[in-house]
Amino acid sequence: MKKANGCNPSNNDYEECYLFDPQILHDLEFENQKSASYKPEINLTNLGEGLTIRPLCISDYDKERFQLMKSQPNLYYTVVIEDTVMHRVVGTTTLVKEMHFIRQCGFRGRIEDVIVHSSYQGKQLGKLLVDALTLLSKRLGCYMVSLECDDRVVPFYSKFGYVKEEEHNYMLRRFIPK
Ligand SMILES: CC(C)(COP(=O)(O)OP(=O)(O)OC[C@H]1O[C@@H](n2cnc3c(N)ncnc32)[C@H](O)[C@@H]1OP(=O)(O)O)[C@@H](O)C(=O)NCCC(=O)NCCS
Repeated sequence: MKKANGCNPSNNDYEECYLFDPQILHDLEFENQKSASYKPEINLTNLGEGLTIRPLCISDYDKERFQLMKSQPNLYYTVVIEDTVMHRVVGTTTLVKEMHFIRQCGFRGRIEDVIVHSSYQGKQLGKLLVDALTLLSKRLGCYMVSLECDDRVVPFYSKFGYVKEEEHNYMLRRFIPK
């Protein structure tokens, strides 16, 4: 993952700097509502030394991609974990909020692209990312949240209450070969 320059909130307006308001993350009642267990205890304000969780920031990656996502307000919630010592993004995931016509335009959440840098795996950061965005989807009023994954990570997602619905088939048609 690319070097993160981070945003300096004192010099930048939150609105311009972050994909969404960081306060939304701070307001999550993570301690009371988290699904997974953490040993040692970590949470959204204390992830471990030199680590912080925040929304994607304009200087993290490609500015054009950031602006494109930002131009669809309240649809994309990409969070990153930054190693503030190394100035590097070490984990990320995205919650996408979809509006569904036949559900009175209710929102369905999808958690996409969960990834933790290999050197940082096993430090509970993946759990924190998925727990946080699951809570966020509820907080944003989604009537459900779902994700797609390989068999091997089903036990990982089960920790947050995700269940495999046997009667549901996941079908796709690729236009670009894998
Ligand atoms: C899957 C992934 C996000 C997990 O992140 P992580 O930071 O390494 O995991 P954590 O340290 O937060 O979680 C540890 C817990 O999850 C379990 N776990 C971690 N990776 C797992 C996996 N691939 N399958 C099943 N369980 C897993 C551990 O056994 C541990 O369980 P415990 O808390 O009961 O002891 C990370 O391994 C990764 O980025 N993998 C490559 C990308 C990927 O596969 N993403 C998922 C796409 S659907």
